[in-house]
Amino acid sequence: MTDLFVSAETPRSVESAILEFLQPQTQTQQQDEAAIPSVAAELAKDLALLRTIFSVVNQPLRQKLAAALSGNPIAAELLLQCIESGVPAAEILRDERLAQQLAAYNEGFAIRVASLKSALPQATEDTTALTTAVLQRLKLGEGDAEMGKAVFKKHCIACHQRAGEGNLVGPQLNGVGTRGAARLLEDILHPNQNVDVAFRTSVLVLNDGRTVSGMVRETRDPQMLDVIDTQGKTQAVQQQDIEDRKDSTVSLMPGNVAKLLSEDELLNLIHWLSR
Ligand code: HEC
Repeated sequence: MTDLFVSAETPRSVESAILEFLQPQTQTQQQDEAAIPSVAAELAKDLALLRTIFSVVNQPLRQKLAAALSGNPIAAELLLQCIESGVPAAEILRDERLAQQLAAYNEGFAIRVASLKSALPQATEDTTALTTAVLQRLKLGEGDAEMGKAVFKKHCIACHQRAGEGNLVGPQLNGVGTRGAARLLEDILHPNQNVDVAFRTSVLVLNDGRTVSGMVRETRDPQMLDVIDTQGKTQAVQQQDIEDRKDSTVSLMPGNVAKLLSEDELLNLIHWLSR
């Protein structure tokens, strides 16, 4: 197992080895879990790699990895740095045992944990039942890809591109099927679990009192910024008009897809995205 990490100088190959190792399709859950403490110990040496891992593993695995890291102060420090940088999202600290374990090391840790927790939005909606239902129906072979494509065109295309159609506000979604339906559902229903800094939203207060919120993108003109809202629409803002800017840890990806789509629509959508 640890052989995988010997070549830590070549992050790329290590990264792909770990990604391969953690692929839920090729490994049983049990094997994954047995290896977590040793994986955690190795990962704790490399912040960037640790962030990458956190951004690809699913929620149960993420929680276990965090718990393993919280077991010693050096790894716990790295874990806190990761959470502070947004991956994994501070949501992970809703796990009280984890939060308490981290806070227990010293005053500084306690303050950082408290400040991360205080910035958390209200608890997110429980979508366990919906997720279970969709996964079960997929297993039974239900779902209509063509109808799923129509759902995508209606609700997602403003920000995502797939099969050559759509906009590139968010990540391109060709090939997302390989991550598996469970992880896809998590990405879609709980976008704030893992928000890449590049996709965080900000609120800009302008000189004339107006506020503009959305994802901020630099443009070719250093005097201008583009702000993309939750509808995928872009507004140009002059740098000099900005009086105040607050960055949040909330993703531009809408957080209400569970409410927006019916179970059937979600089923069809996942079916299509899985192809
Ligand atoms: C307003 C723009 C917007 C809309 C509408 C939107 N998304 Fe997203 N989506 C994003 C952004 C931005 C990200 C990157 C988010 C991040 O890392 O937090 C994202 C991330 C994702 C991801 C994870 C991608 C990855 O590479 O990790 C998936 C899957 C996804 N969206 C699917 C959907 C689906 C399906 C819909 C339609 C139901 C949808 N999105 C609607 C903006 C949007």
